[in-house]
Amino acid sequence: MHVRRVTAFVGSARKRHTYHAALQFLDGLKALGGVEYEIVALSDHHLGVCRGCRACMDKGEEWCPLKDDRDMLIEKIMASDGVVFATPNYSFQVSAIMKIFLDRIGFAFHRPRFFGKTSTNIVAQGIYGGDKIVKYLDFVGYGLGFNTVKGSCIRSLEPVTEKRQKATQQTLAKHSKRFHERLMGPAYPAPTFMDLMIFRMARQSIRLMLDEGSRDHIYYKDKGWFESDFYYPARLGVTKKLAGSLFDSIGARMYRQRPA
Ligand SMILES: Cc1cc2nc3c(=O)[nH]c(=O)nc-3n(C[C@H](O)[C@H](O)[C@H](O)COP(=O)(O)O)c2cc1C
Repeated sequence: MHVRRVTAFVGSARKRHTYHAALQFLDGLKALGGVEYEIVALSDHHLGVCRGCRACMDKGEEWCPLKDDRDMLIEKIMASDGVVFATPNYSFQVSAIMKIFLDRIGFAFHRPRFFGKTSTNIVAQGIYGGDKIVKYLDFVGYGLGFNTVKGSCIRSLEPVTEKRQKATQQTLAKHSKRFHERLMGPAYPAPTFMDLMIFRMARQSIRLMLDEGSRDHIYYKDKGWFESDFYYPARLGVTKKLAGSLFDSIGARMYRQRPA
C-alpha cells in the first residue's frame, strides 16, 4: 500500500494546545493505518512579512524580494499527500505566523497547484470565534487546489476540565476518521457542479481580462486549462458537460471587456 505522507503546519510559537491537538489528530490518523506524518512548527522557520509588491502575482513567485524559507515549506507541501493547517485563535483569526505563511503562498490562489492532495485544519481557542476560522481555512485550502476536509475547533481554556478533554478527544478522533477516509479515497475526485463553475469562471476571467503575457495567463495556458474540462483530467457526464458549457458562456458574458 502507498503510505500517505501528511504534514501539519503549526502556527503557535509554543508547544501547547494547538501542537497537542495536531499531534492527537495525527496519531489518530496513523492508528487508522497507511499514514506517516511530520509536524512543522512555523515558528522554527524564517518567513518574511509580505511587502505587498505583487511581484509574485504579476511576474512570478521567483521575483519575490523576500529570501526566506517559503520555497522549502512549499516543497514540504508538494512532497505530502495531506496537509494540516493548525493554528490558535488569536483575536478571532489565525495567528500572525499562520497568516504570514498563508500570505507567502498566496500567489497560489491565482495559480492553484495542490491538486490531488487533501487538506484540513485545526483551531485551538480559549472561548469564542474559532468556528469562523475553521470555515476560513476550509476556504483557503479549497482555493489553493486541495481536496478539503472540514476542520475542527477545540477549546483550551485553562484549567481544561476532564469533560472538556474528552470532548476534544472525541472531536479530534472524528476528524482523524473523516480525513483518513478522504486521504485514502481518490486523489482526483470528479468535480462537483460548484467546482466546475468556479473553474470555468476563473479561466474565463483570466482568458478575457488578463494580458496574454501575464503570469497567470501563461500558467493557465501551459496547464492546458483554457481547453480542458477541469483543472485535472476528469470524466464528465452529459449533464456536467452541459453545465460546464453554460458556465463558460456565463463567464464569457461576465468578463468580456466592453469597448471604451
Ligand atoms: C494574542 C492572543 C489572542 C487570543 N484571542 C483569542 C480569541 O479571540 N478567542 C479565543 O477564544 N481565544 C483567544 N486566545 C486564546 C488562545 O486561542 C488559546 O489560548 C489557544 O489555546 C492558544 O494556543 P496554544 O496553546 O497553542 O498557544 C488568544 C490568545 C492570545 C495569546
